[in-house]
Amino acid sequence: MKIVCIGGGPAGLYFGLLMKQLNPAHDITVVERNKPYDTFGWGVVFSDATMDNMRAWDSETADEIQQAFNHWDDIELLFKGRTIRSGGHGFVGIGRKKLLNILQARCERLGVRLEFEREVDSDDDYPDADLIIASDGINLKIRGKYADVFRPDIVTRPNRYIWLGTNKLYDAFTFDFRKTEHGWFQAHIYKFDATTTTFIVECPEHVWLAHGLDRADAQQSVEFCERLFADNLQGAKLMTNARHLRGSAWLNFQRVVCDQWWLKAPPGGSAAVPRGGSGRPAEPDRPGNRRRSYIVLMGDAVHTAHFAIGSGTKLALEDAIELTRQFGRLGDSPEHIEAVLAAYQEARRIETLRLQNAAWNAMEWFEVCGARYCDQLEPEQFMYSMLTRSQRISHENLRLRDRAWLEGYERWFAERARRRAAGPPQGAAAPSGGCEDRGGAATAAWGPRFAPMLTPYTVRSVTLKNRVVVSPMAQYSAVDGVPGDYHLVHLGARAMGGAGLVFAEMTCTSPDARITPGCPGLWNDAQTAAWKRIVDWVHTNSDARIAIQLGHAGAKGSTNAPWEDAGADRPLPAGNWPLVAPSPQPYLDDGAIPQPMTRAQMDAVRDDFVAATRRAAAAGFDWLELHCAHGYLLSAFISPLTNRRTDDYGGSLANRLRWPLEVFAAMRAAWPEHLPMSVRISAHDWVEGGITPVDAVEIARAFKAAGADLIDCSSGQVSAQQQPTYGRMYQTPFADRIRQEAGIATIAVGAISEADHVNSIIAAGRADLCAIARPHLANPAWTLTEAAKIGCAEIAWPKQYRTAKPQLEAGFAREKALAAQAAAPQEPAR
Ligand SMILES: Cc1cc2nc3c(=O)[nH]c(=O)nc-3n(C[C@H](O)[C@H](O)[C@H](O)COP(=O)(O)OP(=O)(O)OC[C@H]3O[C@@H](n4cnc5c(N)ncnc54)[C@H](O)[C@@H]3O)c2cc1C
Ligand SMILES: Cc1cc2nc3c(=O)[nH]c(=O)nc-3n(C[C@H](O)[C@H](O)[C@H](O)COP(=O)(O)O)c2cc1C
Repeated sequence: MKIVCIGGGPAGLYFGLLMKQLNPAHDITVVERNKPYDTFGWGVVFSDATMDNMRAWDSETADEIQQAFNHWDDIELLFKGRTIRSGGHGFVGIGRKKLLNILQARCERLGVRLEFEREVDSDDDYPDADLIIASDGINLKIRGKYADVFRPDIVTRPNRYIWLGTNKLYDAFTFDFRKTEHGWFQAHIYKFDATTTTFIVECPEHVWLAHGLDRADAQQSVEFCERLFADNLQGAKLMTNARHLRGSAWLNFQRVVCDQWWLKAPPGGSAAVPRGGSGRPAEPDRPGNRRRSYIVLMGDAVHTAHFAIGSGTKLALEDAIELTRQFGRLGDSPEHIEAVLAAYQEARRIETLRLQNAAWNAMEWFEVCGARYCDQLEPEQFMYSMLTRSQRISHENLRLRDRAWLEGYERWFAERARRRAAGPPQGAAAPSGGCEDRGGAATAAWGPRFAPMLTPYTVRSVTLKNRVVVSPMAQYSAVDGVPGDYHLVHLGARAMGGAGLVFAEMTCTSPDARITPGCPGLWNDAQTAAWKRIVDWVHTNSDARIAIQLGHAGAKGSTNAPWEDAGADRPLPAGNWPLVAPSPQPYLDDGAIPQPMTRAQMDAVRDDFVAATRRAAAAGFDWLELHCAHGYLLSAFISPLTNRRTDDYGGSLANRLRWPLEVFAAMRAAWPEHLPMSVRISAHDWVEGGITPVDAVEIARAFKAAGADLIDCSSGQVSAQQQPTYGRMYQTPFADRIRQEAGIATIAVGAISEADHVNSIIAAGRADLCAIARPHLANPAWTLTEAAKIGCAEIAWPKQYRTAKPQLEAGFAREKALAAQAAAPQEPAR
């Protein structure tokens, strides 16, 4: 086959040499516009795992690279005058020039033709090629020419960065954060050979502009950075090798994702679109035409990964490996190209997206750290937050990397939590119940392991023994709004299961505030007495605290229980009640149309909330939450998707919040001063034109000003058109953002399913509490189970259950030992 790689970066060169190795008969040329030793950039890093992969494919190249590598384990943070270091991170760094030279030399030895100083204008320059590898990096000409086929999605990110070098040597991957009069800068610093270190400086666009760096040339920019990091550089100079760049040497990162990775190029015309990437020919070749060549994107041309995760080169090299692998598997002759390219795209797309997502999280962390973390977090927690920025490195993963550092941090965190929780303030009820007595709630459930999940948390007079919350979950099992034995057993079991706070489900303020006929209420004495029975039971038999969530269904009321044939949110077939909402808009297109509320109705509903609040206090609840999420009445006032009013309660966010805040303030005045109140909001409507996390920060600020103690950060269910992006801990970024930007404590919720998740969230300060819903349906003793799973024996069990504790712990310990044994390298059989 005749193969031309346009662009002699890591992707083009590595593919060239691997293919030549696969079959020396291939005629392979790599065309590069630069000279062999002329390249932009300094060092690149990649992980040990990438090296292992390369070694399996070409040990000679891998050995050469390995020898040229600088290997280091530590990450060091320089922040607010402190130096914090943790180990076990396993990076390798190499000069980009060195890497390219090794690949170039290997290409030449294998017989790959290298053409330097040749700028390729178009694939038409190679009419007789069977396959063109478009490996010409981010500013790709060919991707642009066939943009309608490749459908690139290019997002230009807001931060500015400059890629510099220095001869000062560092023995750790170093992050240095500096505050100026206009905002924060950060440097990403890593040594890559015996004499040189990469020094990337990054800041938000507004900080860059405020310093006039848009008008600075490369030399002036270097001098600025030298002044900024003078005490770190200690006289060493910074260097740029991007003097060839016109204008500013400060760049914006571009995130590239392509829908389609390859095409069949026609002779001079427009490209044939492969059908759904299936590998079938889009059009047959016509006799007399010149042979059609195939074009395939590789490396930065098809995807980019931000340097915050240091994986661009890894992705480029792994693309080259995968394409070679598919040729080896399916056949390396022209008739197989199409099937090979389809298989290559299939294999690489998902893996690449996964890595790009992690890179995106890491990139965003650096984009927002100045506004969100630098001024808010103490150095220890800042370090933890930075290390877990991609959300791929979890708490237990950090323990594997550097146990001593993590355990030191756990102690630091637990000590602070203990100090904050120390001694219940005046007026608080002493913790009681059937748990082992280890000195009260503040110290009941944390011990030598100091798991962040098990640290206490105090708000007003209430001290929770740990950070786990049983999230409110409607059970639709009340009769006439009265919670019965079902609720006693359901909530009682969860209170014995180890969580610090147990929420009862959304409880309605009047009969026509209910979602379904089975929803519980708090509008009469029978309901108050029934709730009191449950609350008393929880207080007598456990040291969990119990919360109630008050809500009004609004337009989503008068519906079936979800297990009825018609399904959730469908109107009741009979016995409906009239619905009210901010505007006459049904939740489902064919749902019942609610009545837009009059001011008199708003007064009446507000008073219902206040009356229910008084009843909740009389029933003895420890905690009250106002439900302003999920499209129910108050949420519907807040979202512009459901509130179309033109009076004082519609229009701007301030207007839309007016009545929910009025309800909240009236409840706060009726609720005992020493008890906490939280507000659950939908922090994202997941619909164009709806509430966004930016609005959520404003909403949180408004409730904070009205006296809310915490914001419970849920999302969605406001519009049936929502398009949420689900995933592990997918709503936690909202809790994080609100906590740091609005300065109020938060509850994270949504797909938090392991102790490791809770520990990571709490330790990083992304939230103060974690609400766990569905896992608590499967396992009422979720907290006890998860604590045993992570080997934390210090948690107190209900006295009646204690005999099960060592058995469960031993079972998990055995499982762990077996898994470790299975993962350990086996002695070869002789
Ligand atoms: C500041 C910064 C730091 C980075 N740090 C890391 C890191 O630590 N680890 C990591 O893995 N990655 C890092 N990267 C990313 C990494 O540099 C790229 O992802 C990687 O080089 C991609 O390889 P590639 O072969 O696809 O493209 P490139 O390396 O960009 O190579 C493309 C080549 O094509 C040539 N070319 C372009 N157009 C033409 C044309 N028309 N004709 C002929 N030749 C052409 C170019 O001159 C270039 O040599 C970093 C990137 C930046 C910007
Ligand atoms: C059966 C069920 C009932 C729910 N009822 C409520 C409710 O009454 N009030 C509320 O705010 N959220 C309710 N939710 C949402 C949960 O509290 C939680 O936010 C959501 O399930 C995501 O958490 P998870 O991933 O841990 O399940 C309910 C969820 C489930 C599964």
